[in-house]
Amino acid sequence: MHISVIGIGYVGLVTGSCFAENGNDVMCMDVDSEKINRLKEGVIPIYEPHLEELVKNNIQEGRLRFTTDIKEAVDHGLILVIAVNTPQDHDGSADLQYVKGVAHDIGRVMEKYRIVVVKSTVPVGTCQMVKAAISEEIEKAGRDVSFDIASNPEFLKEGVAVDDCMKPERVIIGVEHGRVEEILRELYAPFTRTGAPFIVMDVRSSEMTKYAANSMLATRISFMNQMANICDKLGADVMMVMRGIGSDSRIGPKFLFPGVGFGGSCFPKDVRALLKTSRDSGYNPSILESVMEANEGQKVSFTEKVKAFYKNDMKGKKFAVWGLAFKPNTDDMREAPSQYIVESLTDQGAMCHVFDPKAMESAMPLFSSNPHVKFGKNQYEVLENADGLVLVTEWLSFREPDFERMKGLMKAPVIFDGRNQYNPKTIARHGFRYICIGRPSV
Ligand SMILES: NC(=O)c1ccc[n+]([C@@H]2O[C@H](COP(=O)([O-])OP(=O)(O)OC[C@H]3O[C@@H](n4cnc5c(N)ncnc54)[C@H](O)[C@@H]3O)[C@@H](O)[C@H]2O)c1
Repeated sequence: MHISVIGIGYVGLVTGSCFAENGNDVMCMDVDSEKINRLKEGVIPIYEPHLEELVKNNIQEGRLRFTTDIKEAVDHGLILVIAVNTPQDHDGSADLQYVKGVAHDIGRVMEKYRIVVVKSTVPVGTCQMVKAAISEEIEKAGRDVSFDIASNPEFLKEGVAVDDCMKPERVIIGVEHGRVEEILRELYAPFTRTGAPFIVMDVRSSEMTKYAANSMLATRISFMNQMANICDKLGADVMMVMRGIGSDSRIGPKFLFPGVGFGGSCFPKDVRALLKTSRDSGYNPSILESVMEANEGQKVSFTEKVKAFYKNDMKGKKFAVWGLAFKPNTDDMREAPSQYIVESLTDQGAMCHVFDPKAMESAMPLFSSNPHVKFGKNQYEVLENADGLVLVTEWLSFREPDFERMKGLMKAPVIFDGRNQYNPKTIARHGFRYICIGRPSV
């Protein structure tokens, strides 16, 4: 099939490459000419496991091409996948300017029947708006060309995006006609061969499904973070509680880990966008309001724990910070809790020597104006002379570190663990003070 993907970020590049890997002829279009030029040379703009080989192989096989020309993309693909960003606007709503822009661009140049698939996460009613914008441009140009619209939200997770895309747990599409369903069913057939459900619904329900999924996951995280905070107060161990409740099949063990709060490009903006759309419609979803409030509070309460350990006297203290990305296996720094934690510690006079296995380059511009932040070469170098280690992102390389070497490097053997990575007994045996989340400190 001939497919064009418009907007080559995390979602566009991964899905475009996965469509190509399954034998489709894919054209990737983006307005960022620097990104497109680098991609043409096989240089991948983000860190995502397995993505580089996927892109390179498919370029070599001639199934994956890149362009900045919207006309070339619209001429190429029977299916036009919109995967541009929908960032948060100043009032919490989804900023739809890029989606709208692409819709007008497509309408201006469309000469043959096309199926326009909206993969970006967009509020209910956006596909209708895209349809109207395309029709407006076609009418303006006085052309006689028809098209269909479909919603196809993306559920990939950064860090395992290629796997998620090649083997999705489900594919959701929202369509207006059976003929579009048949074409999209054919497109996704190789991805759902192992039995993953292909769920067809109306367009508005499909748009809503994506927000409901992310809001549910965010709610689970905030719920567990609050359970951890209660455990802290009452002297219970949240990790045991987690095992206890996770074994209930109605609850399940996934997504129950407490931490410093969720970040990233999706959960915070999507929950806020759903809150806004819902309020605009006259309904206040108070659960979602609390989910966001609890999330904001979580990174603050963790940082306060660090400060309280030093009786709030942070002047001259030096911290090693392990992990900056909002989660492991990505270099994405969007809404990463590390930003607040590092800024808050340095605001009070502390120095932070930071290290992340993949996110150093994306984090540097965010801290460039802060003279109290230094980027280290590796996880051990930043520990030199540190008063404490603050673990923010649970990268694998932090799981089983050389505790003896760490103790030798640090001024004081203290670990603040924002992800409950370690066994408190093991840490105590190595002679560390250990402050974590929802478990008694040692
Ligand atoms: N990142 C994720 O994990 C994830 C997962 C599921 C869904 N989503 C959703 O998918 C969408 C894309 O997210 P992302 O993280 O890939 O975004 P991104 O910011 O990484 O990439 C978006 C790309 O769109 C391009 N773009 C903007 N306007 C354009 C235009 N007019 N024409 C062509 N290209 C244009 C940008 O240059 C950029 O390269 C968002 O709606 C997001 O909420 C993201």
